[in-house]
Amino acid sequence: MRTLITNIAELVTNDQLVTNDEQAQDAVGQRLAGDSALGILCDAAVLLDGDRIAWVGEAASAPTDADEIVDAAGQAVIPGFVDSHTHLVFGGDRSAEFAARMSGQPYSAGGIQSTVEATRAASDDELRTRLASFVAELHAQGTTTFEVKTGYGLSVADEERLARLAGEVTDEVTFLGAHVVPPEFDNGMGSDGDSDDYVTLVCGAMLDACAPHARWIDVFCERGAFSTEQSRRVLEAGAERGLGVRVHGNQLGPGDGVQLAVELGAASVDHCTYLSDDDVSALAASDTVCTLLPGVEFSTKQPYPDAKRLVDAGATVALASDCNPGSSFTSSMALCIAIAVRDMGLTPAEALWASTAGGAAALRRDDVGRIVPGARADLVLLRAPSHVHLAYRPGVPLIERVWVAGRAI
Ligand code: NIG
Ligand code: FE
Repeated sequence: MRTLITNIAELVTNDQLVTNDEQAQDAVGQRLAGDSALGILCDAAVLLDGDRIAWVGEAASAPTDADEIVDAAGQAVIPGFVDSHTHLVFGGDRSAEFAARMSGQPYSAGGIQSTVEATRAASDDELRTRLASFVAELHAQGTTTFEVKTGYGLSVADEERLARLAGEVTDEVTFLGAHVVPPEFDNGMGSDGDSDDYVTLVCGAMLDACAPHARWIDVFCERGAFSTEQSRRVLEAGAERGLGVRVHGNQLGPGDGVQLAVELGAASVDHCTYLSDDDVSALAASDTVCTLLPGVEFSTKQPYPDAKRLVDAGATVALASDCNPGSSFTSSMALCIAIAVRDMGLTPAEALWASTAGGAAALRRDDVGRIVPGARADLVLLRAPSHVHLAYRPGVPLIERVWVAGRAI
C-alpha cells in the first residue's frame, strides 16, 4: 500500500540537509540553532510504502502512482513523537498525593511504595488492560515510539511480569528493579542496611528474570533511593548482560547521577533538574543524551531545568513525559514542548527536535524520529499550519491524524 500525503504547508523532516525554507537555508548546519535543525520542507509531500517512508519532496514533483492520496489541506506534518521515558505498567492511583502536593506537601520518592503495593495486587490482565489504554492514549496524542520501565514490582516475580507485559507493547523495555528499596528490605538505614542485599537481588536473580524481556537497565541514583556505588553495581551488572544503560539522576537535588551516566557511556541520563557546571560540561563532551522531563517539575512544583544552558553548551537534549502515577501523570508530549518553550528556554524548533529526534537519540535509534526515505513511517498530521502551534496553542488538541509504521490509527 502506497499512501501519498500531499499539500503539506510545512513538513518537518529532522534532516538538516533537506530544506527549501528560505529562512532556514542560510543556517543549515547550525546544530539545533532554530528551524534549520528541523529540515523544514514547505509545500511538500511524503510517500509511505508499507511501514516505511519511500519519498520526501516538494508536492509539485511527487510520485503519481500512490494507491491512496491524503490531502493535508495546508497543515503541518511532523515526525511522530519519541517518548523515551515512561513508567506505564502500574496499578492504583495517587491523585490524593498530587492534590496534597498542590497544597504544599513536598514530593518524595516514598510515594512509589504505594504504587508498588497496588501493582503487586493487580492481575496480569488488569495491568495489560490498563497498559493498552495508555498505548491508545499515547498514539492519539502523536507518540509513535515509547519506552516503558518496570520498577513498581520490586520482587523477582513482579519485576519479571512487568517486563514481560511491557514487552507486549514496545521493544524499548527498561528493567528498573533499582527504583526504590521495597519495604521487606528497607530497614531505614539507606545504603548501610539491607538495601545492599536488595541490590544483590537486583543484580542477580531479578536481572536473570528480567534481562530476556529488556533492552535497557536503569537505576534511580538519588538520595533516598540508591547511592552512587549501588547504582554503579546495578548498571555494570546490566551492561554485562548486554543491556544498554540509562540513569534517573539529579532529580531531587544535586548528585552523582550525571557523572556516573557519562562515565558508563549511558544512552541517557534523565531528569537533570539540578545540574552543576561540571555536569553540563560532562554531558556536552559525551554521547549521553540529557533527557528533560518537564511534566515532573510541573507536577511536583520543582524549578524547571535550564534547557537552553544545555543546548548552548553543546549537549544533546531530549524531552520525554516520564508518564507515571506519582511525579508526572501526563502522556502529552505537546504539553512537554509547551513547557520547555515557555519555561526552559528552548525555541519551538528545539523543543520539537528534542521530542522526536532527541528521543530517538536517547534510545539510540536512527529508524524513528525523522521523516526521511527508509525511516519507519511514523508521522503526525497537525491541525495547524506550523509546528510552532504546539507551544503557541497549549492544551489545544492539535493532533489530526497519526500513522504508526505506515498504519493510520
Ligand atoms: O521518574 N524518579 C523516580 N521515579 C519516577 C517517580 C515514580 C513515582 O513517584 O511513582 C520518576 O519521577
Ligand atoms: Fe522516571
